[in-house]
This record gives sequence, structure tokens and C-alpha cells, in this order.
Amino acid sequence: MSDLFRRKSIAQLVSESEDGSHTLKKTLTSFNLVTLGIGAIIGAGLFSITGLAAANHAGPAVTLSFVIAALGCAFAGLCYAEFASMIPVAGSAYTYSYATLGEFMAWIIGWDLVLEYAVGAATVSISWSRYLGKLLEYYHIYLPTSLSMGPWESITTPEGAVVHGMINLPAVFIVVAMSLLLIKGTQESSTVNNVIVVLKVSVVLIFIALGWGYINTANYTPYIPANTGTFGEYGWSGIIRASAIIFFAYIGFDAVSTAAQEAKDPKKGMPIGILVSLGICTVLYILFSHVMTGLAHYTEFQGQDGIAPVAVAIKHTPYVWLQQALIIAILGGYSSVILVMLMGQSRVFFSMSKDGLLPKVFSDVHPKFQTPYKSNLLFMVFVSLFAAFVPARVVGEMTAIGTLLAFILVCAGIIVMRKKMPDAPRAFRTPWVPVIPILGIATCLFMMVFLPADTWIRLIVWMAIGIALYFGYSQKRSKLNKK
Ligand code: ALA
Repeated sequence: MSDLFRRKSIAQLVSESEDGSHTLKKTLTSFNLVTLGIGAIIGAGLFSITGLAAANHAGPAVTLSFVIAALGCAFAGLCYAEFASMIPVAGSAYTYSYATLGEFMAWIIGWDLVLEYAVGAATVSISWSRYLGKLLEYYHIYLPTSLSMGPWESITTPEGAVVHGMINLPAVFIVVAMSLLLIKGTQESSTVNNVIVVLKVSVVLIFIALGWGYINTANYTPYIPANTGTFGEYGWSGIIRASAIIFFAYIGFDAVSTAAQEAKDPKKGMPIGILVSLGICTVLYILFSHVMTGLAHYTEFQGQDGIAPVAVAIKHTPYVWLQQALIIAILGGYSSVILVMLMGQSRVFFSMSKDGLLPKVFSDVHPKFQTPYKSNLLFMVFVSLFAAFVPARVVGEMTAIGTLLAFILVCAGIIVMRKKMPDAPRAFRTPWVPVIPILGIATCLFMMVFLPADTWIRLIVWMAIGIALYFGYSQKRSKLNKK
């Protein structure tokens, strides 16, 4: 039983991370960390899910949903910042839990992070596929629905016929392409990332600046559409459910912490990278959603059009010619999110495999490329299956619920750490502990509760599989066991 709570000391984690052949080069400045964060944050959440959340749950009040989700992220972000400045090693929330809550919780969180990173990558790839379809339409190339949508998704033709998809091949294509890039070891150099960030932030700023003058205030009435009688469909329950769904848009600031080992001065850089990137994105998101729901009536985002809302909204301005450029920038921006998520996934499993909790295959490094290529290949197949066959809503909500759970555990970890290691040096201290972590736990839990029952069932099934694996495999093979 005590095995479940065995912990790794911070000194042990840091010394292992600096051990010989696996030392990572420390090149990232605070500025690079902020751009890394923005690069991982802005993606399908903003450019796709905002449309679906406005259309089906919150109407124009989706802007309030962004504020609520930002609060939960800010509380969790403060806790991440303390951990990352204290335990500057890759592995993020998994590693923090190993130092505080013990091995079993660390396993739970590592297993749960698959929902954030791998399933999250699948979500973004489905959205990528949708925007690609939109782009090709400008050149009169029409992808067959059967090959560009999963079997549970459909479109209604102008004649009123419902056409079902079969497999989402473009989504598989982008997952395979990004996985191969990762294997090749083409490190997302900070220069490339900076270019993509400039591109993405420009799209958002251009959209806000140009769209602002064409807002039709009639679209804001009613600002909170009346609840339909079904929980979560408009009204206040809809706003909160929308906040749980668009929470996806903020995911990624925590990915900054996986780069802790590569930061020049992680003690200073980690809190800056995490909190500044989150702050910038929050402001951009609130303005963006305000303009989006002001340009088009929220009902226009219903159906498949919700997945490419920028294209729908911009039709209400004279800048329709900008659509193509915006979509190309969005496609580029999505690719970097997919890349960072796949990379984050392989790092977490790499750490777990090194600790003996997962088979060695997840930490086998390619002799030439020096990347965990077998792990990348396995995840390429796993993520491709989700991208090909699972509907966007299902993967998006699975990512949200999984990440919310991870945030809750990180907030809880800070309270435990302050009790168990009150004097351990930390460059950044979360203010008002335990108030902030408790508020973080409460806000994230609140959003989780508002996610649909089927998403909860998927989470429970996924975690049950994880727990079975822990007791059947990992507990016995843990390196701590051998010691
Ligand atoms: N926040 C990232 C996105 O919205 C995951 O794509």
C-alpha cells in the first residue's frame, strides 16, 4: 500500500534529468518561452471551437465563457509556475506529482495527460482538415465527404440530402506528417516557432481590427439566449458548459513547463513563460469572440460551419478576399499546435518509461535522430485512429475533461508541497496558498461538472484502464521498487 505513495525527491529528479547522455541544451530565453506558450495555445480552440460553443451553447455570451475559463487557467497557471520554477525538469505535471502526491497519482496524471496531448492533437487535426476543405473550395476542389469526415459526422447538401463521412484522411495526413517531423528530430527551433506565432497573432489582431467596425450590435440581442429547457443549451448552464468546451483554447500554457530543462534560467523564465503567454491569449480571446459573435449571428455557426467560424464571420465584412490568407495562416498555426502536443506526449511517456512505469519501447531513442521514434510511431497510429474516426466534439471534450483533471491535481499538489516541503527553495511562489489552489480546483471542477455525461463516462473508462495497467504492470516494474 505504501508503494502507492512512494515519492521521488526533487534532488533525485533534477540529478536524473542532468544525467549524461540525456541532457538537453539550455537555449530558451524568457521571451522564447512566452512565444513557445503562445505557439502552443492559439489553435483550434479559438479558430474552431469558439464557433461551435457559440452556436450550440452560449450564443454571444461565449465571451463570458472565455472569461470564466481564463480564471480557472490563471489559478492553475500560478500553481504550474511554482512547480516549474521548483522542479525544472521535463515531464511537467507527471513529474510534479511524483515529487508530491506519490507514484500512484503520478501514474494517474501521466495516463490522463494522454487525453490532453494525444487526443488534443487529434482534435486539432480534425479542425485542420475542415479548414483545408474550406481553402480547397476556393480553387473549386471539393474533397469527398466520405474521405474527409469521420463516420459519425455528416453534412446536409443544399438539396437537403444528408451525406455521412467514412474516414477523415486529411486529419490523418497532418498527424502523420507532424509525427514524421518529430521523429526526424526537426526540433521546432524557436525561430520557426516565433514566425508561426507572429503569423497566428497577426491573424487574430487583423480579424479583431478589421471586424470591429462591422459589428452589428443586433447580433448581441439577446446576449444570453434563453435556455431551451435542456441543460447546457443556452442560458447560464449553456455559458458554463461553453466555458468547459472552449477551455480547450487555453490548453498549451502548461506545455511551456515541459521545456523547463531547455530554459536558460528556468527559475525566472518558467513563471514568465507560463503566465505572460496565458495573459496575452486571454485578452486576445475575449476580443476575438466579441468580434466574431458581433459580425455573424450565432445561429450562423450552427452545423459544420461552426468548425470554420472565421470564414463565416468574415463574410460580413468587405474583406472576403482576406479569407484565404487567414485560412493559410490558421493551417500553419494548427500544425505547430499538433507538433507541440505530440512532442509533449512523447516527453511524458518518455519520463514514465524511464521510471519503469511503462515499457522500454517508449524511451528507446533512435540511434541517428536521437528522438523517441518508436513512441512517436505508436502515437502516430493511436492519434490517427482518433483523427480518422472520432467526431470533433467527442475528442475536444475528452481533451478538455482530461486537462481539467490534470490542472486539479497540480493545484492539489501545491497545497501538499507547501505542507511537506515548506522550506524547499522555489523562485516563484503561488500567492495566497491555499486560497488560489482551492479556487483553481473549484473552478476546474465546476467546468468539469458541466461537461456532458458521455464525456464523463469516457474519462472514467480511460482512467479505469489506466488503473488496471498500473496494478497489473507498472507497480511491479517501477524503478523505485527495485531500489
Ligand atoms: N489551445 C490549443 C488549441 O486551441 C490546444 O488548439
